[in-house]
Amino acid sequence: MTTSKDRLELGQFIPLHYHYNMLNDAARMSSFKEALEYVVRPGARVLELGGGTGVLSFFAAGNAAKVWCVEKNPELAAEARRILALNPSAEKIEVVEADAYEYLPPEPADVVICEMLHVGLLREKQVPVIASFKERYLEKFGPPLPRFVPEATLQGVQPAQQSFDFHGFYAPTILFQDPLCIQDRTRELGGVAIYQMLSYAENVPDTIEWSGVLNIDSAGSLNAVRFITKNVLAILVKEQRTIDWRMQYLVLPLAKAVAVKKGDSIPIRFSYAPGCPIGELQDSLSVG
Ligand SMILES: C[S@@+](CC[C@H](N)C(=O)[O-])C[C@H]1O[C@@H](n2cnc3c(N)ncnc32)[C@H](O)[C@@H]1O
Repeated sequence: MTTSKDRLELGQFIPLHYHYNMLNDAARMSSFKEALEYVVRPGARVLELGGGTGVLSFFAAGNAAKVWCVEKNPELAAEARRILALNPSAEKIEVVEADAYEYLPPEPADVVICEMLHVGLLREKQVPVIASFKERYLEKFGPPLPRFVPEATLQGVQPAQQSFDFHGFYAPTILFQDPLCIQDRTRELGGVAIYQMLSYAENVPDTIEWSGVLNIDSAGSLNAVRFITKNVLAILVKEQRTIDWRMQYLVLPLAKAVAVKKGDSIPIRFSYAPGCPIGELQDSLSVG
């Protein structure tokens, strides 16, 4: 059973070895590098919430005059100090061991970086951390708010027929998929229905809930839904493009498969709090 303490702590302590996976995720790294080089103007003051190894603060520090890199996990804060000292611009980055729910920089910031992201905006605390930051920041410094990286998150859901057969062992499990790889075990039964467009500069929601339909393009057994989360790291208005980072997909098996045919519209609804366990989304999910 998930207690309220577990819920609060969930996604907040990412083991050190997992940070290698994040550093090694080429799509994530190249998108953030490009976005931060664009968004952080020369002389800018930058706040990073949830700094981990400090890599995003490092990208920002190329142009920034000052970066506050806030990390709650003492082991990681120490590791960030050690690693950043091995790299250029370390003198501009102050690693602050603090809780992002409480910390504010000593002076206003131009840019806030927050990568406490998980597909579905589940588990990690991106949304409540940014809500808390904005409230406290406006109280201390007043408007304008800094620019956020990412600026927005777009979420969608797609009907799928998923193979859960593992060498004859039938195991309908929750699973993740790399968006850049072909997924042989998944047959897309329809397009992606967008259920949320969230801009971090605007009011962020306490609840993510949606009631809509999945439009079916090809016949099959609808036994899973795929959740898709795209983060818009930066909007380049003049160039009329965005710098995006698509996260791993989340596939949730359905309790009961639905036989579908082309042209069907299958009702779907769900409701969950940002940062909650995946199980809360799954428990609320109703399809068909
Ligand atoms: C997904 S990692 C990203 C790390 C780093 N920014 C990167 O992109 O590689 C999220 C980080 O936020 C930290 N974190 C989670 N909750 C926090 C909080 N309340 N205050 C400060 N740091 C937090 C975690 O320890 C972790 O290092």
